[in-house]
Amino acid sequence: MSGSHEFVVVANRLPVDIRTDEAGEITWTTSPGGLVTALAPVMQSQDGAWVGWSGSAEQTLEPFEADGMHLVPVPLNAKEVTEYYEGFSNATLWPLYHDVIVEPEFHRYWWNTYVEVNQRFAEAAAGVAAQHGSVWVQDYQLQLVPEMLRRLRPDVRIGFFDHIPFPPVELFGQLPWRQRVVEGLLGADVIGFQRTGDAANFLRAVRRFTDHGTRGQKVTIGQHWNRPERHVRVGTFPISIDSAKVDALARTEKITQRAAQLRSELGDPDVLMLGVDRLDYTKGIRHRIKAFGELVAEKKVTVPRTALVQVASPSREQVQQYKTLRQEVEVMVGNINGDHGSWGRSAIYYMHHSYPFEEMVALYRAADVMLVTALRDGMNLVAKEYVAARPDLGGALVLSEFAGAADELGQALLVNPHDIEGMKSAMLKAASMEPAEQRRRMRTLRKRVLENDVQSWAEKFLAVLQHMPQRTSHV
Ligand code: F6P
Repeated sequence: MSGSHEFVVVANRLPVDIRTDEAGEITWTTSPGGLVTALAPVMQSQDGAWVGWSGSAEQTLEPFEADGMHLVPVPLNAKEVTEYYEGFSNATLWPLYHDVIVEPEFHRYWWNTYVEVNQRFAEAAAGVAAQHGSVWVQDYQLQLVPEMLRRLRPDVRIGFFDHIPFPPVELFGQLPWRQRVVEGLLGADVIGFQRTGDAANFLRAVRRFTDHGTRGQKVTIGQHWNRPERHVRVGTFPISIDSAKVDALARTEKITQRAAQLRSELGDPDVLMLGVDRLDYTKGIRHRIKAFGELVAEKKVTVPRTALVQVASPSREQVQQYKTLRQEVEVMVGNINGDHGSWGRSAIYYMHHSYPFEEMVALYRAADVMLVTALRDGMNLVAKEYVAARPDLGGALVLSEFAGAADELGQALLVNPHDIEGMKSAMLKAASMEPAEQRRRMRTLRKRVLENDVQSWAEKFLAVLQHMPQRTSHV
């Protein structure tokens, strides 16, 4: 089994939004995500293929070409969406890997479906990768794919990147299938994590749950039957954004004007605070709203001179914990606005929508204080987008130390979002920060984000992968 594509990306989702129009015709538009931007040049120069799910249940699509990429849709039926995507990926692994903020559910039938679907992704990748090609598997939904693919295609180089945290062994150990997951990942030649702490947690899990040896950042998989000894490299590769694109967009007249217009539509507040998140319990939205509500109630800030815009984009709406979170957030916002709003002016402008990226960049430019208060986050690209969107060197970033971005963005006001008093102080400090201090901090933050963009992230990972030895057909 082999194909003709030298470079293959395997991700839960395809990098396009697929729609069926009124005539039943399938149309697609490229999704604006950072990953596809980063990989587009490699995909185009190396005749790349992307294996992923369309996002809809019961949709069987033939492979198609989009923006110079060969897209290979992997179908999921309704039961698989429930058990593999909503269930095992997002109600077992997601909470387990994010500090058990909500309780993970362990169901054997979800696990069985996760195994079956991972096998389908591995087979699809095996069918399109060229002899001795490279396959880059993405994220927690597909942790078994590296080993499954290695069995099918021992000749290919396999990379894996984990976009979310890898939990401490004391939490990971709860997973009934922990050894299978570690062995699944170890099918890769290179395993990348966001933070050094994630890589260290993984290496501890290897030592605790397998008998493979580790030395520094290297795992040795001993010889077994006809399988020769091999090494797996574990590394830290913090993901980023297309910084130059965001920066250039933020400098345009259109965005600058829209930012001014947004402020005026919001009643020209003295201080505009902003939160932008998927509506996810990992993001600390409740903690942030609580802190803001207390500042208003204690008259440390006044409405409408200070306003908070919270964009909470809909996410994983079929999963119970997400439904519960939505209710909790909306009750909190309703209470605060009911107590402190006035005709035509709210304390919190809460939006449960997604917006085009241009509108988000205008919001970033408009906001005096950006609140990124995740309880746990692999990286948090919103923090990096805010920084890239401030070529004017204005604005202040309040950033959770539990977001991966905190490792690089030390000039932000770092907070522990569980410490509501500490967060309130940081919000006040950000709101009253002198322009000179804003500029000083923002200059350093921007240097970091502009130098370490998503293109360099992909280049660094792929350079390590290309240095791994090429294999024969032995497993
Ligand atoms: O890494 C986390 C992630 O899977 C991102 O890749 C994605 O943008 C986000 O979570 C939302 O994921 P989904 O809507 O596919 O569940």
